[in-house]
Amino acid sequence: MTSHSADTSQSGSIDHVLHERRLFPPSAEFTKNARISSVQQYEDMVAAARDTRDDFWRKEALEHLHWFEPFGDVCQWEAPHAKWFVGGKTNACYNCVDAHVAAGRGDKLAIIWEGEPGDQRKLTYRDLQIEVAKCAEAFAQLGVGQGDVVSIYMPMTPELAIAMLACARIGAIHSVIFAGFSAESIADRNNDASAKLMITSDGLYRRGKVLPLKETVDEALAKSTSVEKCLVLRRTGGEVPMTEGRDVWWHDVVDTQPGELAAVPLDSETPLFILYTSGSTGKPKGILHTTAGYNLWARRTFEWVFDYRDDDIYWCTADCGWITGHSYIVYGPMTAGATCMMYEGAPNHPAEDRFWDLVERHKVTVLYTAPTAVRAFIKWGDEHVDKHDLSSLRLLGSVGEGINPEAWMWYHSKIGGGRCPIVDTWWQTETGGIMMSPLPGITPTKPGSCTKPLPGVIPNIVDELGNEVDSEHGGKLCISEPWPGMLRGIWGDPERFVEQYFSDVPGQYLTGDNARCDRDGYYWIMGRIDDVINVSGHRLSTIEVESALVSHPHVCEAAVVGRPDDLKGQAIAAFITTTGRDTDDEFLKELKMHVRKQIGALAQPDDIRVTAALPKTRSGKIMRRLLRDVAAGRELVGDTSTLEDLASISQLQESE
Ligand code: PRX
Repeated sequence: MTSHSADTSQSGSIDHVLHERRLFPPSAEFTKNARISSVQQYEDMVAAARDTRDDFWRKEALEHLHWFEPFGDVCQWEAPHAKWFVGGKTNACYNCVDAHVAAGRGDKLAIIWEGEPGDQRKLTYRDLQIEVAKCAEAFAQLGVGQGDVVSIYMPMTPELAIAMLACARIGAIHSVIFAGFSAESIADRNNDASAKLMITSDGLYRRGKVLPLKETVDEALAKSTSVEKCLVLRRTGGEVPMTEGRDVWWHDVVDTQPGELAAVPLDSETPLFILYTSGSTGKPKGILHTTAGYNLWARRTFEWVFDYRDDDIYWCTADCGWITGHSYIVYGPMTAGATCMMYEGAPNHPAEDRFWDLVERHKVTVLYTAPTAVRAFIKWGDEHVDKHDLSSLRLLGSVGEGINPEAWMWYHSKIGGGRCPIVDTWWQTETGGIMMSPLPGITPTKPGSCTKPLPGVIPNIVDELGNEVDSEHGGKLCISEPWPGMLRGIWGDPERFVEQYFSDVPGQYLTGDNARCDRDGYYWIMGRIDDVINVSGHRLSTIEVESALVSHPHVCEAAVVGRPDDLKGQAIAAFITTTGRDTDDEFLKELKMHVRKQIGALAQPDDIRVTAALPKTRSGKIMRRLLRDVAAGRELVGDTSTLEDLASISQLQESE
């Protein structure tokens, strides 16, 4: 390992990232055994994917997916519409499950699961095949077939993965809703997608408590016009109301099936799932991914980036409610035939060493987690890590936001023992899988950089007007060529799809992130260009939170911005004007609860400041830049001459 100009004294600010020069090459030992073990191999793949795209992906698809019927064209691209592996028939569930059983690997463990209270289950690929078939059979009995949307609001139990795969088995489209969202958010998603079936559980365990899920779902279903049936898993054993004719228990309708239903051959472009994510407007959008291209991208990026080996015990700590769980708990690793750890609960229950206890007991070899978790571990103290033997680990991953150099260094030395490469993976719900990341056998890493694009990813940095710029200076990050895992649309909103992603630079995918590329060709993600904030690696639109605030009868106007936070990356700061009601602590508490109820706990503002007026330009636009400075406690910078009400700013500063 070499280390240049090691300077750990500065904060994890963008400035710091810009000055980061340390370089950590992989060890010779790691490189020797790696899947991609020479720079030449990587460069050949990059060149082949760029110069002979169709040949490259044809070979990949034929080798790494099962085809019931062959495809014709590899890629039909009429920007922004892509079709991959045209006319072929495959099935993502078959690729994830049946293919391994058919190849004689049915006894291999697919899932090692641990619930928060400590209960454990292990499922082989053969077990998974039976469970998934049973679930798909139950779907048929509940009137769900190809093209129907199934909303899933469940704890991190094997049944969550089983339900997703059962949809894929018959061509139903899953829409997984993270089990922290509110009844309102569930209903919005159900209605937008016209979901027919809802799957949930009685509750889940979190920090030793049972959180009810069914009650929340009942409230959502009262407002969901399309949902006909609700399938309920018994997880916590609590009493829950069941609505006659609508609600059925998993153990009654799934466990009693024969478990024989085969995977249905599906056209390559059959919708696989919708996943709602925040954009720059108040309404979350349903990102659509289809079968073959997504499945191949998830598998190959998993194998390349995590240097997958047959004997790995791989653990991605994300929740299946986010894209990371879709691509790197279910579709990527399972298509590769990996053994995946799955954990239900909090990282600090019963104590702050829960993750390290899991790693030690299950001999986890590859760990994929988020910077916000790493920062929490640092805060909780090294003693929780020191208690455990983490020598099984060989590779570490990071996702969700840039990992600040301090957290990177701690992750590297304390968790990785200085020997495990770190793959800082940059990607998005829309990209389906990892787009830029070190390849652990060959890429010398720089803390804070997601390094280089994977084969098939052609980044392009442009200025405000869409012209290519000096990429060292930085600008908006676009991707200029289609790739198999790219989103195929926004559910029910084709215009927004074109407008949002493909109109800034016609024909190129606009990521919404700013980035720069240094002289070594390493990319540095510099944050969003839009009103999206990243709270603990979760994407939220400021406008979404503002809408929730103004839906309270005593709030007139609201402006929401992100402010730097040591743990969450960004915290939510809200500025409001009110109808004049007494704005004491009780009121602020009530408002926070109101946002929780409207969106979910993850959107609850950290600070709310009441002000007489919001700072606006003469044309009436809220000056968010100023509010960001106020929220961060920074000196106000820039031109304030167009401010309509300077007094409102000085009042905001006084209220700090
Ligand atoms: O801003 C980038 C940030 O997260 C956004 C995507 O969020 P989401 O669709 O929820 O997907 C998260 C998991 C893939 C991006 O636009 N982001 C994600 N990973 C990184 C990142 N920013 C910097 N470095 C990363 N490694």
